[in-house]
Amino acid sequence: MSHRSATTEPNEPADLQPIADPASIAPTMRAAVARRYGNADVVAIENVPTPQAGKGQVIIRVEASSLNALDWHFLTGTPYFLRLIAGLRRPKRTIHGADVAGTVVAVGAAVTSLHIGDRAFGESAGGGCAPYLATKAEHLVPIPEVVSFQAAGATPVAGITALQGLRSHGGTRPGDHVLINGAAGGVGTFAVQIAKALGAEVTAVCSTRNVDMVERLGADHVVDYTTDDFVPGGARFDVMLDNVGNRSAADCVSVLRPAGRYVAVSGPKENRWLGPIGHLVRTRFAFRRTDATFHQFTASSTPEDLMFLGELLASGQVVPEVQRTVGLDGVADALAEIGSGHARAKIVVVPT
Ligand SMILES: NC(=O)c1ccc[n+]([C@@H]2O[C@H](COP(=O)([O-])OP(=O)(O)OC[C@H]3O[C@@H](n4cnc5c(N)ncnc54)[C@H](OP(=O)(O)O)[C@@H]3O)[C@@H](O)[C@H]2O)c1
Repeated sequence: MSHRSATTEPNEPADLQPIADPASIAPTMRAAVARRYGNADVVAIENVPTPQAGKGQVIIRVEASSLNALDWHFLTGTPYFLRLIAGLRRPKRTIHGADVAGTVVAVGAAVTSLHIGDRAFGESAGGGCAPYLATKAEHLVPIPEVVSFQAAGATPVAGITALQGLRSHGGTRPGDHVLINGAAGGVGTFAVQIAKALGAEVTAVCSTRNVDMVERLGADHVVDYTTDDFVPGGARFDVMLDNVGNRSAADCVSVLRPAGRYVAVSGPKENRWLGPIGHLVRTRFAFRRTDATFHQFTASSTPEDLMFLGELLASGQVVPEVQRTVGLDGVADALAEIGSGHARAKIVVVPT
């Protein structure tokens, strides 16, 4: 059992809370719950049973979670094919917040990687919008001592997506010129900083209100898509990380160097059953006639990538851009903002 001292969180007094005695945890807890598919107005605050640790699981006292477009898709059950895994008639996942950072307060059988009192973060199958969450221990890694719960809780889904898109699929190398379309959202604000950490020159695309933010995050060049267009500008890129999917394949090919890599993180929500799948298939096909390559992926959290992100956080090379922090009462509004398609950076949830 390892208890951290107050000196581990010098910048964040709110993190300095005593570790709970598992036996003292109340049998019920307040949570932001959505029992049916719908928009943000189906989210309600309820008292629900506090989870217990099954085999291979730990109970985390959630100090910070954050919301992602992923949570919006699970909330609305769209595109509809998602319901094949999320629940056909009603959602299996009733508490949103896949991102989690907190303190281990109980461990189930067969858990050896984490102990009561450990600070840990990672991507869960939802549940961060509640004070306690049960998740597989293998989904979590320790939070470096100098990293706050808020920073760790803002990172997993968006940070993993940006990292895997740029490094694993885009093959970003030092000196590459990277274009990030959709640089102001959760994935984009991590991508700008991770691309810089990988040694790239970064051109970021966002709207007027976010230009200053992405410059501050390290972008070398910014294209305000409300007044400018990156396609006819003449710049050529080694990697295009596309968090929006609003351009034609011909446009994307035209801005890439001959061996350039187009990485599709997202696509237009053109079909309520299949979402962007048709667009992605057409784009993949169009790339077959070019020297550039098409890469589409679904991010999948690994302990190695989480630990790599933890190192970037600890070194200060990546500082999650947190737009605001909300309590449980603010979860519905935060989800609605993400559903608008114009959320700015990260919204952190402190589930009290
Ligand atoms: N493949 C995967 O595994 C994976 C993983 C995570 C997320 N995703 C998907 O990736 C997308 C981005 O995720 P996210 O978490 O970053 O979403 P987000 O936080 O909701 O951010 C969306 C951002 O898109 C920007 N945007 C909207 N229209 C734009 C345009 N025409 N040009 C440039 N930027 C535009 C908005 O900025 P402005 O307000 O400045 O317009 C906003 O900041 C979502 O569709 C999500 O579902 C995929």
